[in-house]
Amino acid sequence: MTTPRTTLWPLESHSRAKHLVLRSYLNGWFPILGSWNGRILFIDGFAGPGKYAGGEDGSPLIALKALREHKAKGLIKGEVVFVFIESDPERAEHLRGLIDSLRPSLPASCRIDVVHGRFDETMTDVLDSLDARANRLAPAFVMIDPFGVSGTPMSVLWRIFRNSKAEIYASFMYEAINRFKATPEFEEHLTALFGCDTWRDGIDIGDPTTRKNFFYGLYEQQLRGAGARYVVHFDLYEKNRLVYAIFFATKHSKGADLIKQAIWKIAPFGDFAFHGTHATQLTLGLETADYEPLKQALRGAFGGKGWVRIEKVAEFVFRQDGLPHGPAEEGCAGANGNGRRDRHRRNDATEETDVSGRYQASLQVA
Ligand SMILES: C[S@@+](CC[C@H](N)C(=O)[O-])C[C@H]1O[C@@H](n2cnc3c(N)ncnc32)[C@H](O)[C@@H]1O
Repeated sequence: MTTPRTTLWPLESHSRAKHLVLRSYLNGWFPILGSWNGRILFIDGFAGPGKYAGGEDGSPLIALKALREHKAKGLIKGEVVFVFIESDPERAEHLRGLIDSLRPSLPASCRIDVVHGRFDETMTDVLDSLDARANRLAPAFVMIDPFGVSGTPMSVLWRIFRNSKAEIYASFMYEAINRFKATPEFEEHLTALFGCDTWRDGIDIGDPTTRKNFFYGLYEQQLRGAGARYVVHFDLYEKNRLVYAIFFATKHSKGADLIKQAIWKIAPFGDFAFHGTHATQLTLGLETADYEPLKQALRGAFGGKGWVRIEKVAEFVFRQDGLPHGPAEEGCAGANGNGRRDRHRRNDATEETDVSGRYQASLQVA
């Protein structure tokens, strides 16, 4: 995937899956969290300009419209705060213009901030400021969707998880990782991405499947170390070329179940993979899921064991994502950046934050 230089760029076919799953997931997420919490956050850390060159909606507009068009929006009693972070000034400005036109049609309970800044710096400032007040982030869905491998340090993900009932929806740019793994100038980015330098053990793995399993397994292990109980991923292909994966990490079984349903809707072949060239088939009524891989996995795990408690089967299914699992609570040494396990008091106060010193914003994130 080449990094576009223009303000808008064409939507690549494999990336449609990222948006379809996002929309489907948010349809379930908004009412579940919004009816029980005074405030929920949708943080889009790499927001983009809001539209693609062909006129398709980008992730910020998809999220805003998911709320606006939700059948059960009356049940969402709390405030829904959208924070869109974008480092490119023209893209941020383009997004602001789109949001201005959408704003009159959005529910009054929704608050939107477009922050011109970098994801890691902005989140660090926000989290530092919350720490300083012994406050914590409201329940948050955090989307992390960079073009490459830089700017998404695991240390920030650690802090987000420690701070909140967070869910993380992160693009894991596997093609770029594979390409740059032996390039010295990318070493520091890869170490930050994984939160440790164990990724170096993958450089010399010759077999592509073993290498992929190694890098995916390490990333999953680190997300679990950050506090996620459930980690689900799906792969995005361009024809037969694996471009990247989306990793979804959450502490809650309901979130894991919801994302699997969303993935299954767009990739109903049981392999958790979306092939860009299958895009047109989505409109041909391909709605029947292929349960065979799941049946095989269940037979392998429970065959011959007699009666098994349903909770055990459910737990197994939640954890079935084709990945080797790392230790539940510990990642690589130093993965949280400072070794600190932060403790915070719950409080619904408003945070006034000067975001990275360049842009004054009042983010209601607590
Ligand atoms: C893959 S695009 C995002 C697409 C968008 N999430 C969507 O689905 O429509 C990545 C965006 O992140 C921006 N960006 C790059 N580095 C960034 C950083 N460190 N912090 C915030 N935004 C960044 C780029 O300018 C670009 O607009």
